Amino acid sequence: MADEVKNLLAIDDIADDFRGILEWAIRYKQDPEPDYDFKPLDEMSIGCIYEKPSTRTRVSFEVGIHKLGGQPLTLLKNDIQMGKSETISDTAAVLSRFLDGITYRCFGHEMVEELANNSTVPVINALSAKHHPCQAAADLMTILERNPSLEGEKMAWVGDGNNVLHDLMLACAILGVDCTWAVPAGYEPDADIVKRAEELAKKSGSKLTETNNPIEAVSGASAIYTDVFISMGEDHLKDKIKAFEGFQVNEDLVSFARDDYVFMHCLPAHRGDEVTDGVMDSENSVVFDQAENRMWAQIGLLVYLCNPAAFDAYLDLY
Ligand code: CP
Ligand code: NVA
Repeated sequence: MADEVKNLLAIDDIADDFRGILEWAIRYKQDPEPDYDFKPLDEMSIGCIYEKPSTRTRVSFEVGIHKLGGQPLTLLKNDIQMGKSETISDTAAVLSRFLDGITYRCFGHEMVEELANNSTVPVINALSAKHHPCQAAADLMTILERNPSLEGEKMAWVGDGNNVLHDLMLACAILGVDCTWAVPAGYEPDADIVKRAEELAKKSGSKLTETNNPIEAVSGASAIYTDVFISMGEDHLKDKIKAFEGFQVNEDLVSFARDDYVFMHCLPAHRGDEVTDGVMDSENSVVFDQAENRMWAQIGLLVYLCNPAAFDAYLDLY
């Protein structure tokens, strides 16, 4: 029944198993089919609903589901009844009769909550205005595969207090990674998310810091992360753009980080706005590893949520 089904609406929904899922995904990436045809989504169909554009999320879900033996069905907002002649809850009930899982990219976070509350199959948030858990999974996977102990990791965010930062700080807090975010005054992350992250950080020992000073955030950082200043669905406000003066990740700013820092961005990037070409294209940039890891991390999440027995069985092979 609905309350027994696990969903992923924000990354802290899977806090207890997060590290295990990332380690599973790293192992799968290295060895997708150990000694037999591993198709844990065989005979399963996953519906992927998009109300906003997507390149990475759409392609990584379609290819990942196919690799697992499942059938991805991409459902674009203009092609389905939901939101026009049918409610989200009725759509959830109908899709649950056909599908084995649903991914949903939406505007307000309450929309994916409503879909999950009325579905009897797992629902994965493929980005809402408040959360982007699949991105955080890929991001921390990228860090973890470079540094399996996570020792010495210091994440610095420079930019908007947005959906990507919300799940990034939660993910860092779950794994015990220190995280500092530099945001302009008035563009802080949501207080309820910071509170949740602080609760997680108490358990893991990670240090969370907010500042308005980008140099303070990146000093000694092992990773610098930024995202667009204006997210999908937001008005292109002149005032907002003005507030981000001094928040560009450029060659001067990154000189305060560790020499071996990694530059991170969820993409798509607006080159010349939040980041310079020089930083995006530098040897320190891991942005395309992050993009690739969207698929591997989501493979881990899909198997964990849609076929937990196969998730465990894969681990038993080692
Ligand atoms: N990072 C990310 O979610 O990219 P898309 O919008 O292309 O899916
Ligand atoms: N913050 C951005 C992320 C895009 C992947 C947005 O919501 O538009």
